[in-house]
Amino acid sequence: MKIRVFSSEAEFDRACAEAIVNQIKTKPDSVIGLSTGRTTVNMHRIVCELHDREGFDVSGITLLNVDEFAGVPADYPGTCGNRLLEAIVRPLGLSDGQFIMFPTESDDYKRDCAAFTAEIERRGGLDLQMLGLGENGHIGFNQPGTPFGYSAWVCPLLPEVEEKVRRETGIGDAVRPGGATLGPADIMKVRRVILVAKGDNKTDIVQRIIEGPVSEEFPATVLQGHPGCEYWLDAKAAAKLRISK
Ligand code: GLP
Repeated sequence: MKIRVFSSEAEFDRACAEAIVNQIKTKPDSVIGLSTGRTTVNMHRIVCELHDREGFDVSGITLLNVDEFAGVPADYPGTCGNRLLEAIVRPLGLSDGQFIMFPTESDDYKRDCAAFTAEIERRGGLDLQMLGLGENGHIGFNQPGTPFGYSAWVCPLLPEVEEKVRRETGIGDAVRPGGATLGPADIMKVRRVILVAKGDNKTDIVQRIIEGPVSEEFPATVLQGHPGCEYWLDAKAAAKLRISK
């Protein structure tokens, strides 16, 4: 298990951005998985700044997000896809085919989840996944209780997330929004996983998922069994770790 602790948030953001850039430079046809949220927003911006400055070749890469809202209109600005289009896909000048995502609407998510993982495999599999962490230990949209054997699927949203999506999209009561996500089994196939966490609100869960027992009640603990998993943390998120000291 490899743990890196950065003394400031700025150092964390910079190092995470460099991990993505180095992956692209080392393997120009890399398939890279991203996560949306507060943890990753700065790293995406810095990747774009480095690209503007250095002009490294991004014409062969594939980007994707680990998860996406399911059952919401495609033009909802809060979709993971739309947020990443704005934050990194368009600024890097990637073509449509270089950004692959779960659909936001589908009449058959089982089929579309299988198609998504098949497309990842067709492109050679995920080289790197920058993986965010939820305060309850979730990774992607996989909430506590998700079987580790699950491949891509649609996980029910937490009530507060569902409420927010309903408010913002105005979707009717007949629609049950969900979280399409790579499953723990897909994440375990990624060659290099960097679990990223920063801030005070992640201190307890970081300690639990790294130093506590492996349990499906804390989905991120599955990573303890991944030989290529690294935990990159800022000092606040790492504050309760005993292992790293
Ligand atoms: C959401 C996303 C995850 C993300 C997590 C952490 O649940 N579906 O992919 O990793 O939030 O978000 P934040 O970085 O804002 O704490």
